[in-house]
Amino acid sequence: MIDDLWYKNGVIYCLSVGTYMDANGDGVGDFKGLLRRLDYLHGLGITAIWLMPFQPSPGRDDGYDITDYYGVDPRYGTLGDFVEFTHGCKQRGLRVIIDLVVNHTSDQHHWFREARRSKDSFYRDWYVWSDKRPANANTGMVFPGVQKSTWSRDKEAGAWYFHRFYDFQPDLNTSNPHVQAEILKIMGFWIQLGVSGFRMDAVPFIIATKGANVRKPVEQYDMLRAFREFLQWRQGNAIILAEANVLPKTDMEYFGRDGDRMHMMFNFHVNQHLFYALASADSRPLAKSLAATKPRPATAQWGLFLRNHDELDLGRLTKAQRNAVFKAFGPDKDMQLYDRGIRRRLAPMLGGDRRRLELAYSLMCTLPGTPVIRYGDELGMGDNLELPERNCARTPMQWSTEPHAGFTEGDRPCLPLIDKGPYGYEHVNAAKQRRDPNSMLNWTERIVRMRKEVPEVGWGDFRVIATRDPAVLVIRYDWRNNSVLFVHNLDERPREIAFAVGLPGDAGKLLVNLLSEDHSRANKRGRHRLLLEGYGYRWYRIGGLDYLLKRSDIDSDTSGKAAQPA
Ligand code: NOJ
Repeated sequence: MIDDLWYKNGVIYCLSVGTYMDANGDGVGDFKGLLRRLDYLHGLGITAIWLMPFQPSPGRDDGYDITDYYGVDPRYGTLGDFVEFTHGCKQRGLRVIIDLVVNHTSDQHHWFREARRSKDSFYRDWYVWSDKRPANANTGMVFPGVQKSTWSRDKEAGAWYFHRFYDFQPDLNTSNPHVQAEILKIMGFWIQLGVSGFRMDAVPFIIATKGANVRKPVEQYDMLRAFREFLQWRQGNAIILAEANVLPKTDMEYFGRDGDRMHMMFNFHVNQHLFYALASADSRPLAKSLAATKPRPATAQWGLFLRNHDELDLGRLTKAQRNAVFKAFGPDKDMQLYDRGIRRRLAPMLGGDRRRLELAYSLMCTLPGTPVIRYGDELGMGDNLELPERNCARTPMQWSTEPHAGFTEGDRPCLPLIDKGPYGYEHVNAAKQRRDPNSMLNWTERIVRMRKEVPEVGWGDFRVIATRDPAVLVIRYDWRNNSVLFVHNLDERPREIAFAVGLPGDAGKLLVNLLSEDHSRANKRGRHRLLLEGYGYRWYRIGGLDYLLKRSDIDSDTSGKAAQPA
C-alpha cells in the first residue's frame, strides 16, 4: 500500500533532454545521451525523473509550444530512443513523468493550421475565436512586459484567437469534447510507452472557461476528475502533478475533497514564503503558509521545490515581503522578470554560500511534501544573465572540465555553457564533485537518501513547534508511532533555543541526530536546549531511552559506555 503511492515519499528530479547530455555531437542533448547518465541519476537516489517537453516543437517557448503530441523532436532522437530510455529507467527502478502541455499548442500545429483555414474546418472549434477584438484583449497576460495581449488577429482566419501565453501558443478550447478526448488519448499514448504520469502544465487555465465574452473565467473542476479517472483505468500507479499557482482556499478543489482529482500539486504558496524566510530570517510567514496549505486528502501530496525552469514568482507575497526578497536575492533589474519574480538560479541567489544552500535544501526536504530538484542544483550550478528571459537558468548540465563541460563533443552547444566566474564549469562540474567527499553533489546524495528514510515527512501529520525565536523553525512529524523533528536556523548568527518536543509522553526521549553524532537529551523539565550555528540545521528521530536500551541489549555492551544510536 505505502509503496503503491510512490509519489508520497519520493524525490523527483527535473531535467530538459536538450540541455542534459548530447550523444551525437550536434550540440543538442538527446535521449541517447540521457540514457548514458541514468546511472548518475540512479546514484543520486532519486525516485522519478520529470522530463520537460521533448515533443516536436519550433522551440519558441523551450518546447512548451508543441506541434505533435505523439512524437519526439528529431533533435532529441526517435520514439525508439524514448522507449530505450524508459526501459533503462525501469531497469534501475526509476520512474518517469513527462510534461503534458495541453492548454495550448504551437501555432504551427496542424490542428491550428486547419482551424485557421476555414470556419467549416473540423478543427475550428478546437481553438477559441472571436470575430471582433474582444474588449479585454489587453488583460490577463502571463508574461507582462514581453507579451502584449491575450488575443491576436489571424489574417488567414480573418478572426481573433485567444492565447493565455505568447501569441504563438493559441489556447485549445478545452470545453470541446473532441479536445477533451484527445487529451486522454495523449495520456494513454505515453502511459503505454512506460511513463508513470504527467506534470500537467498550466492547469488553472486548462480548466477555465474561455471566450471573448468570458469576463471572469470559471474553473471546471470536474475535468480534473475525468483526467484522473482515465489515468487510473489505464495504469493505477500513474499520477498527475499539477502546475497550479493558486490560492490555498482552492487547493481542495484541485486535490478533490475525496482525493479524486490531482495526485500532486506544486506548492507555490510555500515556495514564495520559503524564499521570504531565507531572505528575512523570519520563519513566521512560512509557518503560516504551511498552515494554510495543510488541508489535503491523505493520498494527495505537495511538490516542494526551490527553483524551477521559470522565474521565482513572488506574486503572492505582500509588497514589503516581495521587496525584501528582491533586495536579498535579485536586487538588479536584469535579475528580475515579468514584474513579479527573479530569474536566477539558486546558488547565485544565495551568494554561493554552502551553508545557505544546505539550509535551503534541507528545508525543501523536510517541509511537508515530495522534493523536486532541478538539474544542476545538486552541483550548485549558476546562471548566465546575458541570456534572455528564463533562458539564463536553463544552460546545459556541467559534467566535467572537458570542452563545453563534457555536455557535447560538438562545437556549437544549443545554449552557451557557463565558462566564466565562480560558476564556470572548470569549477562547478559533476566529475570534480564526484571525487570530493565533501562536495555539494555528495552532500545532496546523502540528504536524498536520508529524506527517503524519513517517510514520516511524506506521509505523516506535522506541527510547527514554538521556540520563541522567529529565526528558528522547528517542525515535527508523526506517523504510525514514529516521530521525527527538524530544526532550521534561518539566521546567519548562531542561536540558542529551548523547546519541548510537543507531546507529554515524549518528554524524556532522546533526540537522535540522523546526520551526526550530536544527539540531544532533554533537561529535567523535558526541554531541549540547542546551540545552532548560523544557518544550522538538525534532523532528529524522536528515539529515546527505549531505543538506547534495545541497542545496548543487542550490542551486549561490556565497555561501560552507552551504545551509540545508529
Ligand atoms: C508553464 C511552464 O512552466 C512555462 O515554462 C511555460 O512557458 C508556460 N507554462 C506555457 O506553457
